[in-house]
Amino acid sequence: MSSHTTMAPTKEAILSLTGISKSFGAVAALKDIDLEVAPGEVVAVVGDNGAGKSTLVKVLSGVHSPDAGSITFESRPETIPTPMAALNLGIATVFQDLALCDNLNVINNLFLGRELSRYRLNEVEMETRSWELLKQLSAKIPSLHTPIASLSGGQRQTVAIARSLLGNPKVIILDEPTAALGVAQTAEVLNLVERLRERGLGVIMISHNMADVQAVADRVAVLRLGKNNGTFRVADVTTEEVIAAITGASDNVVSRRSASRLPAPPTQESAS
Ligand SMILES: Nc1ncnc2c1ncn2[C@@H]1O[C@H](COP(=O)(O)OP(=O)(O)OP(=O)(O)O)[C@@H](O)[C@H]1O
Ligand SMILES: [Mg+2]
Repeated sequence: MSSHTTMAPTKEAILSLTGISKSFGAVAALKDIDLEVAPGEVVAVVGDNGAGKSTLVKVLSGVHSPDAGSITFESRPETIPTPMAALNLGIATVFQDLALCDNLNVINNLFLGRELSRYRLNEVEMETRSWELLKQLSAKIPSLHTPIASLSGGQRQTVAIARSLLGNPKVIILDEPTAALGVAQTAEVLNLVERLRERGLGVIMISHNMADVQAVADRVAVLRLGKNNGTFRVADVTTEEVIAAITGASDNVVSRRSASRLPAPPTQESAS
């Protein structure tokens, strides 16, 4: 076990990784990674370019098999040899490129590859279910018949997330969901992440953006050079401390905090 601070989720984890390692030839992309997510919890995974975030996503989505380590899902040891195996377990991934079809409308994108009737599209039912799903997510999509090409980045992200929910996953992994978005669209997608938490999903959100992490995550796990470099409760950590863990400015962020000359963040009493 590594010596860094590990904050376990308060509820029992639905998904946990222990000692996951993955190398590509001489490159050790992941080294002895531990990570947990509980139902109704948002765990952010942050780290610099090349830290291993996408490799971790790919291990969880059945794209890469780890060289070592174990995965537990709903208290059972599992392997995730293929993307279909991930979906069958209940782990859905929204990859950064979203994999939507620009020329198709919202409904057809939602049901791409899983059209309701086996031999014939049941258009009415697909439209009804699309509408219900987007309403549950408080999504702001002007019309379900709009081609994806004419939606904003935030709306596209919403459609991609909604699509992944049709399989009723228990864990959803979002790879940089706000990376390409403006302020208002980012807020929309972060609202959607809140809805996912309310629905009781375990959410793993890869991010580069500390503001997003502070806004929606319950815990934040830092990857640095393929290793865990700290896991923190977001309520207990400052952005500076997370950045120090990302860059390696401090190996023990907790001790750095007590020695820090930065002003303490306002407490509830002093802020009011
Ligand atoms: N398929 C692959 N073949 C060889 N090397 C790979 C492969 N995928 C990732 N790597 C290497 O593994 C390391 C981790 O890459 P990864 O893509 O997981 O990082 P990341 O944290 O997602 O970075 P970024 O923020 O740039 O997306 C890097 O050194 C990368 O070059
Ligand atoms: Mg990446």
